[in-house]
Amino acid sequence: MKFFIDTAEIDEIRELAATGMVDGVTTNPSLIMKAGREILEVTREICAIVDGPVSAEVTATASEAMIAEGTKLAAIAPNIAVKVPMTWDGLKACKALTDAGHMVNVTLCFSANQALLAAKAGATFISPFIGRLDDIGLEGMELIADIRQIYDNYQFETQILAASIRTVNHVAVAAKIGADVATIPPAVVKKLADHPLTDKGLDAFLADWAKTGQKILG
Ligand code: E4P
Repeated sequence: MKFFIDTAEIDEIRELAATGMVDGVTTNPSLIMKAGREILEVTREICAIVDGPVSAEVTATASEAMIAEGTKLAAIAPNIAVKVPMTWDGLKACKALTDAGHMVNVTLCFSANQALLAAKAGATFISPFIGRLDDIGLEGMELIADIRQIYDNYQFETQILAASIRTVNHVAVAAKIGADVATIPPAVVKKLADHPLTDKGLDAFLADWAKTGQKILG
């Protein structure tokens, strides 16, 4: 499974990119607002750090304006994936931008039928929002499983990008189901490495090592 980092914070992206964990980045208008940066400038900086797809979201709601914004965002770098919302206008923009040779990420997906439409419109990525479905008492992970089954039934090439990930469990379950990509907040990526038995085991090894009085270096 590919890991995208769900942030527009340059320092966080740089730090995680150095670990080799970052296959791409996703941003959205809320993340740009939180970063307090100008969208074109910060997106250009992200594309210079990360070779994989960097999602940049349009903010127009009519298809022609989405296409114009998407074309401008795509001109930032060859690895831009233009993010469009899962609306009829978004689907029209998806088709036009895909036909023009750009990667397109259809975002704000909350149903299997929406994912089916996005695949038929040629989306490179579909972004089902797990956490926001969980927030309203539904099972976000069931949507990932449904989309996996539908895409496999018909050999759609659209990649399932599990989004709105809030917990480490979301990552493991999405991977088990076969999501192609998970976009993960930096804090959750770091938590993936944690296990109490790792900490306990390391403490015990270090305590025994101290008793030997040895040093590997010097
Ligand atoms: C990424 O593409 C999405 O915009 C993001 O994962 C949404 O996450 P949220 O529901 O935590 O805002």
